[in-house]
Amino acid sequence: MKRHLAEKIRQLKKDKNAIVLAHYYQEAAIQDIADCVGDSLALAQQASKADCDIIVFAGVHFMAETAKILNPEKKVLLPDLNASCSLAESCPPGDFESFISQYPDHYVVSYINCSAHVKALSDIIVTSSNALKIIQSIPTDKPIIFAPDKNLGRYLMEKTGRQMILWDGVCTVHEAFSLEKLTELVLEHPEAKVIAHPESSKEVLRLADFIGSTQAMLDYVKNSSHLEFIVGTEAGILHMMQKSAPGKSLIPIPTAEENSCACSECAYMKLNTLQKLYTCLLHEAPEITLDSDLMDRARKPLQKMLELSS
Ligand code: 13P
Ligand code: SF4
Repeated sequence: MKRHLAEKIRQLKKDKNAIVLAHYYQEAAIQDIADCVGDSLALAQQASKADCDIIVFAGVHFMAETAKILNPEKKVLLPDLNASCSLAESCPPGDFESFISQYPDHYVVSYINCSAHVKALSDIIVTSSNALKIIQSIPTDKPIIFAPDKNLGRYLMEKTGRQMILWDGVCTVHEAFSLEKLTELVLEHPEAKVIAHPESSKEVLRLADFIGSTQAMLDYVKNSSHLEFIVGTEAGILHMMQKSAPGKSLIPIPTAEENSCACSECAYMKLNTLQKLYTCLLHEAPEITLDSDLMDRARKPLQKMLELSS
């Protein structure tokens, strides 16, 4: 059934000059039919140079919005429009606008996991892959507001030694890891390296041997001489991680839920299915539509980010 659907999607992509961009957190079958699988930065870069008429974004809403902002003349489709993000939802544009108006001399740095409206209110956008480099490029006498992820913000403050005013948002998926179960795993697997995404809580990050973006974690596992890894990020990454490092043992950090031994899953990401992707490409809907003035304002901080990331 899945193979049949995948064939039909491949044919539709050809017929309609469409590409599929998929985040590493998508289900394996979606990753396998994608033209590009990547983290937020790689997907934004791919979207900015896409040569096609239609982009199907297998990811969450803010990612598809980003693709649309960078390609206003193209049709951008998202298989399920309800695929939101707890970080984007934690930062309503009206509240954010009032918040930043209290600090008019501050430089506003927003994590890409936010709405187009919040991007339009920002000076520059970052992803987990380039945040450190971009923060370090801001003159040291310029005070900074960082939104919406306070865990990533705190991590960046520690790494750069810079004070920043943080918006109080979290990723519920990366906050769900059980510290108790992680501690047990570390004791059971003394040889294993703990790797974690910087959206995780500070307690989990304290136990990590390596902290990095989705792409950085994949590279670390592939290139490391170690054989066992305790993985602190969304479960979808395990598909590509295992594919690129077949001989290595990957142990997901369980969530705090009772009797759970499962890795944390992003319910928003998992709203997309192969079936929805097929019908979305077939009917060319649901489509991302945005006001052109909003797109113009949101594109400026995104382009600044892309220039600093090349
Ligand atoms: P990256 O893809 O930038 O690592 O971000 C992780 C994430 O949570 C995306 O929603
Ligand atoms: Fe948002 Fe977290 Fe899901 Fe990423 S994993 S899309 S940050 S809720």
